[in-house]
Amino acid sequence: MMDPSKTSGERSVYDIQQFLATSIPGTERVLCDELLELGFSGVRFNRGAIPFRGRWREGWRACLVSRIAQRIRVLLHRFPAPDEEALYAGVRAVDWRPFLSWRQTLSVGAFCRASSIRHSGFAALKVKDAIVDQIRGDGGKRPSVSREDPDVRVYLYLLKDRASIYLDLSGESLHRRGYRMETGEAPLRETLAAAILRLSEWDRTAPLVDPMCGSGTIAIEAALWASGRPPGLSRERFGFERWANFGDKEERMMRELRGELRGGGSEKIPRILASDLDENVLKAARANARRAGVRISFKHRSVFDLQGDGTRKVLVTNPPYGVRLGTGPDFCRRVGSVFSRLHGWRICLLAGSPDYERSISLRPHRKIQLPNGDLNCDFLTYEIP
Ligand SMILES: C[S@@+](CC[C@H](N)C(=O)[O-])C[C@H]1O[C@@H](n2cnc3c(N)ncnc32)[C@H](O)[C@@H]1O
Repeated sequence: MMDPSKTSGERSVYDIQQFLATSIPGTERVLCDELLELGFSGVRFNRGAIPFRGRWREGWRACLVSRIAQRIRVLLHRFPAPDEEALYAGVRAVDWRPFLSWRQTLSVGAFCRASSIRHSGFAALKVKDAIVDQIRGDGGKRPSVSREDPDVRVYLYLLKDRASIYLDLSGESLHRRGYRMETGEAPLRETLAAAILRLSEWDRTAPLVDPMCGSGTIAIEAALWASGRPPGLSRERFGFERWANFGDKEERMMRELRGELRGGGSEKIPRILASDLDENVLKAARANARRAGVRISFKHRSVFDLQGDGTRKVLVTNPPYGVRLGTGPDFCRRVGSVFSRLHGWRICLLAGSPDYERSISLRPHRKIQLPNGDLNCDFLTYEIP
């Protein structure tokens, strides 16, 4: 990576970088545990996103190995920005040339809170102006903005008139692993599936069951986790691979890193059983599992035919909810009564309706609010006696 030591007037970001792993709200604790387990340095619990630090390669590694992070960002500059002039000047003080040339496209996102600049759209525009003015200054031509597929993604976080400028290493959100081409009606983000598996406290040795598996996300993420296979290996490219300074040397280093990580997986994983009532969605799930390279026992079966067989299993599922998927209180009650008969099992539900909690006569061992897209869900876990 080219020497970005001149990116900040206030502090050098050449050697050890300060990274930030963003997560779905409510999953920060498990993301923090995951990053610690994966051996990252400087990991600290923080609501909204987990900081860690290391050389550039550690940022690349995080993109490849974290199952729960949504995005990995690197801090370029932090400075006081009480007004638009200060914001513009602070962004211009960063040397953007290592990352961006006039041939490339960029996008700028912003979040403002408790600051004199209140409108995030306005703040993002100022940041964009400062960047393109610097690049234009060098050669006359300027990079253009792309909302859909930018080469370089910049993010401003403005809190109490203090600006932090981040560059996004991920590119597309990390939940896009590359294996899920086909989905059913309400697919779960892969990162959320990975987070609820960790929240379920599954030990990766007991058999795991998803009786309403849809496109198979929970089962596939479980198999990837149990086999220790890094989730990012099926992704063709990350955002940082499109930066101006990503040359032949960096490409070689990235190939080596991918190679090292590819060697680490294990073939021996516990039985993972996934079923669904909908044959078409099961076909999609099978194709997704094939692409992910994992072995799962799929079955066409109604959840109402699920029975215990005397061995302890962990059930993790995201049952249907609402009119669109044709469910109501009666469906939830019937599901609750099936689950209550699975003696000795641990039952974990990402429930989009309070009717599921009402349908099980036990107190949940754990209850956490998690957003699933636009829907607020409860993640509930039970130990069935
Ligand atoms: C919210 S979706 C699950 C989405 C899944 N987690 C994914 O990532 O694709 C709920 C699933 O429950 C299935 N379903 C509905 N009624 C069922 C029943 N009686 N038995 C089994 N599956 C059922 C639907 O076909 C749908 O695939």
